[in-house]
Amino acid sequence: MGKLEFAPSILSADFARLGEDMRISEQAGADRFHVDVMDGHFVPNITMGPVVVRGIRPVTSLPLDVHLMISNPDQYLDAFAKAGSNTLIPHIEVTTDPLRIIEKIHELGCAAGLAIKPDTSLDALRPVAAHLELVLIMSVHPGFSGQSFIPGSVERVRQARTLLDEVGSHAAIAIDGGVDTTNIGSLVAAGATNIISASAVYRAGIPIPDALRALRAAAQVGSW
Ligand code: DX5
Ligand code: ZN
Repeated sequence: MGKLEFAPSILSADFARLGEDMRISEQAGADRFHVDVMDGHFVPNITMGPVVVRGIRPVTSLPLDVHLMISNPDQYLDAFAKAGSNTLIPHIEVTTDPLRIIEKIHELGCAAGLAIKPDTSLDALRPVAAHLELVLIMSVHPGFSGQSFIPGSVERVRQARTLLDEVGSHAAIAIDGGVDTTNIGSLVAAGATNIISASAVYRAGIPIPDALRALRAAAQVGSW
C-alpha cells in the first residue's frame, strides 16, 4: 500500500483568499491539492476551469489533481495540462475509449486517474486499471461539496483494492465525498491512500491546520 496522502479540495476554500488558504494547507502538511472542475452538464454545478489552475499554480509546489466532472474531457485535457495540472482525472462514465484517454494524459506529461460514480460498476475499470496511477472512488454523487458520505463506499474501496490487485495495478485509491474524522479510519483500513476532503478541511469550524491534524489523527497515522 502506498503512503497516505491528504488532498484538500479547494472547492470549499475561501475563494476571496484562495492562495492564502492553500499556503496554510501546505504548511499544515497537505500532500497535494484537489481541484473540482464541473461543467453544469455532467453534473448540476459549475465551478472552475483551466484559468483557475493556471492562477493557483504559482501558489504551491504540491501536485494539482484535477477532477474533471465534465462531459467532454478529451476536449480539455490539453488546456488543463498546459495550465499546470499534475494529475488529470476524467470520469469513466463519459470516456468512450478509456485506454486512449489515459494514453493522451500520459503524452501530456500528467499522471492519469479515472473517477467512478457511486452507482457505476467497478468492473468498468478492470480493462484499463493496470495503466492508471489513480482510481478515484466517489463516495457522494458528484456535484457539490458538503454532502453526506454514502456508507457503502467503504466496501467499494475494499472491492476496488481487490480488483486492482487482481490485475496487478499499482494505482492509488482516492476517496472523494463526505470524508471526515468519523469515516476516514475505515476508509484507510479498506485501502484508500489518497484522502480528498473539502468540508472537513475548510468548513470544519476550526483552523485549517487543526482540521488537517484531526483527520490525520483519525486516520491513525504518524504522530500529528
Ligand atoms: C464532489 C467533489 C468533491 C467535493 C468534496 O463532486 O468531487 O471533491 O469537493 O467535498 P466534501 O469533502 O465536502 O464532500
Ligand atoms: Zn472531487
